[in-house]
Amino acid sequence: MENIVFPQGFLWGAATAAFQVEGATGVDGRTDSIWDAFCRVPGKVVGGDTGEPGADHYRRFEQDVALMKELGLKAYRFSIAWPRVRPDGGKVNQAGLDFYRRLVDTLLAHDIVPWPTLYHWDLPQKLEEAGGWTERDTAFRFADYATATVEALGDRVGTWTTLNEPWCSAFLGYAAGIHAPGRTEPAAAAAAVHHLLLAHGLANDVIRSAAPDAKVGITLNMYPIIPVDPGNPADLDVARRLDGLQQRIFLDPLLRGEYPADILADLEPFGFGEHIVEGDLGVISAPMDMLGVNYYTEHYVSSSPNGSEAAPSPWIGVQHASFPRRDAPRTDMDWEVRPDGLTAVLLRLHHDYPRIPLYITENGAAFRDDFSGSGAIDDVDRTGYIASHLRAAHTAIRAGVDLRGYFCWSLLDNFEWAEGYAKRFGIVHVDYATQIRTPKMSARWFSRVARDNALVAVS
Ligand code: FCB
Repeated sequence: MENIVFPQGFLWGAATAAFQVEGATGVDGRTDSIWDAFCRVPGKVVGGDTGEPGADHYRRFEQDVALMKELGLKAYRFSIAWPRVRPDGGKVNQAGLDFYRRLVDTLLAHDIVPWPTLYHWDLPQKLEEAGGWTERDTAFRFADYATATVEALGDRVGTWTTLNEPWCSAFLGYAAGIHAPGRTEPAAAAAAVHHLLLAHGLANDVIRSAAPDAKVGITLNMYPIIPVDPGNPADLDVARRLDGLQQRIFLDPLLRGEYPADILADLEPFGFGEHIVEGDLGVISAPMDMLGVNYYTEHYVSSSPNGSEAAPSPWIGVQHASFPRRDAPRTDMDWEVRPDGLTAVLLRLHHDYPRIPLYITENGAAFRDDFSGSGAIDDVDRTGYIASHLRAAHTAIRAGVDLRGYFCWSLLDNFEWAEGYAKRFGIVHVDYATQIRTPKMSARWFSRVARDNALVAVS
C-alpha cells in the first residue's frame, strides 16, 4: 500500500453549520434568519423541510462532542448563529452567547479545537427586510455581532472564520434566488459581494482588537473552471468570466487589495463600482492568517447555448454558458467526482496567491446510504470519495502547498439547504425521528486516518 503520511500537526476535523444542524430555531431568544423565512415559501426547499428538527445539535451537542472525541477528531468547524447572538440583528442575547460558550467549553474539555465561522448564511430576517446584504449598513451590523461574539469567546477560540462561501450568499441568494433570501436581482448580487467582503474586513479588524493573538480567515468555495474547448476563444472567455465571478472577485480584493479589472468592467452594467467607497479595499485586504477552501467538484464550461445543462442564473451578465455533462461518477447531488480538481485548486492558490496557509474547510459527498439490514452503513462511495480527495490534497502538499488541515463535510447528516433533508452528507447517520446517531463506515475509516495522520487502506 502506498504510504500517504500528512505533515506533523495536520488538523483533522469535521464541519457543520448552525442552521443545518441545530434545530431549536425558536428557543432562548433566537429569531428568524433568512433561511427560516425562505423555508416557508412554498416550493423553495425540497419536501417543504425547515430548520426543524435538524440534527437537534442545540440540545444534543454534548453527546455530539463525545462522539467527535470517540472518533478522534482534533477540531470541530461549526458556525455561530447571528440570530441567536443578536436576534433581529439588534441587542445582544446572553442566552445565545451562552450556548456557544458551553459548546466551546465542552470542545476544549475534550481537547478538540473549536473552529467557529461567524456567518454561514443565516442573516437575521429583520436585516434582510431592511435590504440585507445589498445595504452597506449590514456590514457594520455584522461587525457589531462579531464584536459581541469575540468579546464572549475570544479567550477560548484561537481561530476565527468570518464568512462561509460569500459567493453563495451573494449569487445564489440575490441573483439566482435558489438560496435565501430568494431574490433574483443581478444588481443586488453585485452589491452583496462588496458588502460581504466589507463585513469580512470589518470583522477581521474587530477580532484583532478584541483578541490580538487570534488567527483570522475566510472560507471560499473553489472550483477549477475548465473550458470545453481551450482552442475556442468564446469558451475561454466564458471560463474567464465564471472564474472571475466565482473566485477572483473574492480572492483578489482579499489577498491583493484590488478587484480584478476585467470583472469590474464586466459588472459595470450592474453598478458594482458604485458600492466601493474609498478605503474599503484597505479594510478588506487587511492581513489574514489562513484561507479556508471548500471543494466538491469542477465546472466544465462551454460558450454554447446548446450544452446539455442550461446556464444557471447566478453568473450575472454571462450569456450562453453551459455546463456539459462528462462521463464521470456523480454524487447524489449530481456533482461530478473530480479529486484532481482539488489538487488543481490548491496549486492555483499556491501560485497565484502565495504565502497564505490553507485549510480544506469542507469536502465530502452526499450519497444514498443503505441503512437496511444489519444497522451498519457501509458507505463505500463516501469513504472512497474522501479517500481520493485526501490523496489529491496530499499530492498538492508534496508539490509544496502549505495545506494545514482537512475538515470533512459533514459530521452529521443535516439540512442541505434547498435540498432539505433529502441529501445526506454525514459521516454519521442521523435518524431525524429518533435523533439516533450511527457512525457510518466513512466515520470509522476517517477516525483511523486522523489517528494515524496517514491514509490507510479502505477496509
Ligand atoms: C457548501 C456549504 C455547506 C454544505 C455543502 C454541501 O456549499 O457551505 O453548508 O451545504 O455545500
